[in-house]
Formats: sequence, structure tokens, C-alpha cells
Amino acid sequence: MMLRAKNDGCQLKIYAEYNGVTVGTVEIQISLDEAYIHDVFVSDKVRRQGIARQMLCELERQLPAQTERIILDVRVGNIPAIELYKSQGFKEIVRRKGFYYEPCEDGITMEKIVIHGRY
Ligand SMILES: CC(C)(COP(=O)(O)OP(=O)(O)OC[C@H]1O[C@@H](n2cnc3c(N)ncnc32)[C@H](O)[C@@H]1OP(=O)(O)O)[C@@H](O)C(=O)NCCC(=O)NCCS
Repeated sequence: MMLRAKNDGCQLKIYAEYNGVTVGTVEIQISLDEAYIHDVFVSDKVRRQGIARQMLCELERQLPAQTERIILDVRVGNIPAIELYKSQGFKEIVRRKGFYYEPCEDGITMEKIVIHGRY
């Protein structure tokens, strides 16, 4: 598995590839001291092999020095994602009633304080 990054300054995207085929992506928007994760996805055939964890670690490694925290939103019922984020040091900071639609579901906002130079 190979990780590839695309960085245009305010948006950073990490791709996980097997033999040139993309099997996972993480996308983050960077603004001042905060970064917001928009999307994390791993193809269902290769889940539970540590790919999302590796992509999140790589993403954190590539954040600019001024980034102090990472924020994301997740559906309350998305246990795999919630467990992934918790295992990477994210903590719940707020619950939002009816944040998601189709289907309607509450959301959880999670945060991770970035400690640079840890890797
Ligand atoms: C959530 C998702 C990105 C996880 O990707 P993954 O590559 O399978 O995750 P990893 O193998 O790196 O798992 C890392 C940790 O996350 C947690 N985790 C991942 N999948 C899990 C599951 N199905 N159930 C419980 N915990 C899970 C575990 O703590 C796991 O560590 P472990 O395997 O050592 O126990 C993947 O399931 C996915 O793409 N889901 C659909 C898209 C989605 O919901 N994205 C999140 C939107 S907020």
C-alpha cells in the first residue's frame, strides 16, 4: 500500500493506493489554526486493515505548523468511524440534533488538539 498526498495550501488530500488503484481517501480543509476533515473513505474490500488510521497519521504529519486543532462531524450511528477517530485521539465536543438528513440523524462534532513534532 502506498500513500500519496495532494496539497494546494488550503486543502490537503491523502490517497491510499494498491498497485495504482485508489482504495482510500481523506480530505481536510485548512484555515488559520484549524483544520476540518470533510471525508474519510476506504473501499469496503480492504477495510479493517489499518488504512484509514495510516491515512489520518499521514494527514496529521503534513499539516502546517500553525494548525492547532482538527475538527470533524460524524453520524451518531457510524460506529466504525467513531471508533476510528477515538483511536486516533479525537474527543466528542458537541452533539447536534438532526444535523444529518436522508436519513435524519444526530451528529457528533469531534476534536483533536494537534501536537506538532510528535512523529
Ligand atoms: C470508517 C472507515 C473509514 C474505517 O476505515 P478502515 O480502513 O477500515 O479503518 P482502520 O482499519 O484503519 O481501523 C482503525 C480503527 O478504527 C476502528 N474501526 C474501524 N472499523 C471498525 C468497525 N467496523 N467496528 C468497530 N471499530 C472499527 C477500530 O478501532 C480500528 O482499529 P483496530 O482494527 O486495531 O481495532 C471505513 O469503515 C469507511 O470508509 N466507512 C464508510 C465511510 C465513512 O463512514 N466515513 C466516515 C465519515 S465521518
